[in-house]
Amino acid sequence: MPEAAGIVTGEAVGVNRYFGSLLKVDKMHDPRSHFEDAIADPAVFLDTPEELSRYGRDWTGRFQGETPLVLRPNSTEQVQALLAVCHRKGIAVVPQGGNTGLVGGSVPRNGEVVLSLSRLNAIEGFDEPSASVTVQAGTVLETLQEFLAGKGQMFPVDLGARGSCQIGGMIATNAGGIKVLRYGHMREQVLGLEVVLADGTVLSNLNRLRKNNTGLDLKQLFIGSEGILGVITRAVLRCQPAPAQRQTALLGLERVDMLPAVLMRLRAALAELSSLEFFLKGALELVCARFDDARDPFAQPHAAYVLVECESGEPASVRFHEVLAEALEDGAAADAVVAQSGAQAEALWFLREGITEAISKTGLTHKFDVTVPPGALPLFMEGIRDLAARFEGVRPVFYGHLGDGNLHLNMVQGASLADAAFRALEEEITEPVYALVVDFEGSISAEHGIGVLKRKYLGYSRTPDEIATMRAIKALLDPRGILNPGAVLEP
Ligand code: FAD
Ligand code: MLT
Ligand code: ZN
Repeated sequence: MPEAAGIVTGEAVGVNRYFGSLLKVDKMHDPRSHFEDAIADPAVFLDTPEELSRYGRDWTGRFQGETPLVLRPNSTEQVQALLAVCHRKGIAVVPQGGNTGLVGGSVPRNGEVVLSLSRLNAIEGFDEPSASVTVQAGTVLETLQEFLAGKGQMFPVDLGARGSCQIGGMIATNAGGIKVLRYGHMREQVLGLEVVLADGTVLSNLNRLRKNNTGLDLKQLFIGSEGILGVITRAVLRCQPAPAQRQTALLGLERVDMLPAVLMRLRAALAELSSLEFFLKGALELVCARFDDARDPFAQPHAAYVLVECESGEPASVRFHEVLAEALEDGAAADAVVAQSGAQAEALWFLREGITEAISKTGLTHKFDVTVPPGALPLFMEGIRDLAARFEGVRPVFYGHLGDGNLHLNMVQGASLADAAFRALEEEITEPVYALVVDFEGSISAEHGIGVLKRKYLGYSRTPDEIATMRAIKALLDPRGILNPGAVLEP
């Protein structure tokens, strides 16, 4: 392919396996000039080094890359026009939402242009009879939560990154979070979706109907597609009535192997159970060590902790207290504290939600987000402890969403291990962890997705035929391979 001024072809961005070379937008040669015929609005373009740098680094700091240009459309039409140019010229694009993803899929890795959805952030309408809200993709989760609270409603997917993550990113990753056991993932909330395909075609189905069986449900393809099949621009989401009441408690357990029994007991006894989270002793110690205002509410340490919350339409239920009292009497739990106020509930939640940040304040980490059948969690964690013991200077930290069997295992760097030596262990640690996941009939990604971090391990959870079908769908929808190249599927 001939080189035009300011454009370098070929290897620097990798060669698309199916359809030839992608073009590299040269940061030295007026990168925005490629797009100016299509879009006149200067606010769409960012290209100074200071502006670009924050789009090139992910939340964990593990993935970093450079981009020559950030595109910030504020309408579906602008997304359409920009992607049409990228498709025509073969310019690779990484869609980026709140950039809180934990698998490296939201940042450029090879000089790609970043397409940020942050300016496409209007809440377009709330429809009470259908209990649905229509939002643009760049709407931040917390903004939506606040908007719906003002309408006596709530959005039922919630997670620790709520202040930054965007609805488009959450749909693209099929985010889970702290209420999946009651309300499901993002997938269960999406009624309608608008997506711009790689060539600029707009697939718009802003459906508000609960019942609409009219052929293939195309939106399902894009939920969890991590930016490789299309750019999500708008969505219609289900809402729930805001709960009149939240009851929150923390249980301390004598042994880790008591976790499944507590799960079964609370799930059976509490019809309004909305969250059931867990962490082990080491995780609580880390939060208390890293944050001055975090405090272990118990007099004695416990092997495991379960955070339980009920959301109900009724004022305070005595049932919650009765169920916890029974659990203490029977020895299912060793101790319990019940939050007496919103502030106390928040303090208990911080012990769970602060773990991710406490880890990043401690050192580097090899991050895992796996599921196993919940009954097998204790045995699985025992297997992980044995495995971790083989690596000096590596400490396993265990926490996650008990109700879903979702363990966020972090293999955290100890002080005795230098950064390079710790990083070099990545494969040596990852392979046996995933082999154990397979032995336990689990999944290598519960809720964070595959991104770049796990793409070479996809075969642990998907068959060769499934992966080949994914590639065929990718080739159909993005024939030039411009959308998030190298995410999910290995180049
Ligand atoms: P980004 O990080 O910007 O992007 C994620 C992926 O989606 C990338 O591949 C990107 O290319 C693609 N993408 C983004 N926007 C679009 C779009 N509009 N169209 C097409 N593709 C797009 N995740 C959970 O599931 N559960 C949790 O409990 C949870 N807790 C977290 C807690 C913390 C403290 C942090 C930092 C992260 C947590 N996460 C959790 C991970 C993360 O917040 C989610 O994956 C979230 O859904 C990502 O949204 P985002 O807008 O930040 O997307
Ligand atoms: C969580 O549930 O806290 C997250 O998904 C983030 C993490 O894995 O640390
Ligand atoms: Zn999680």
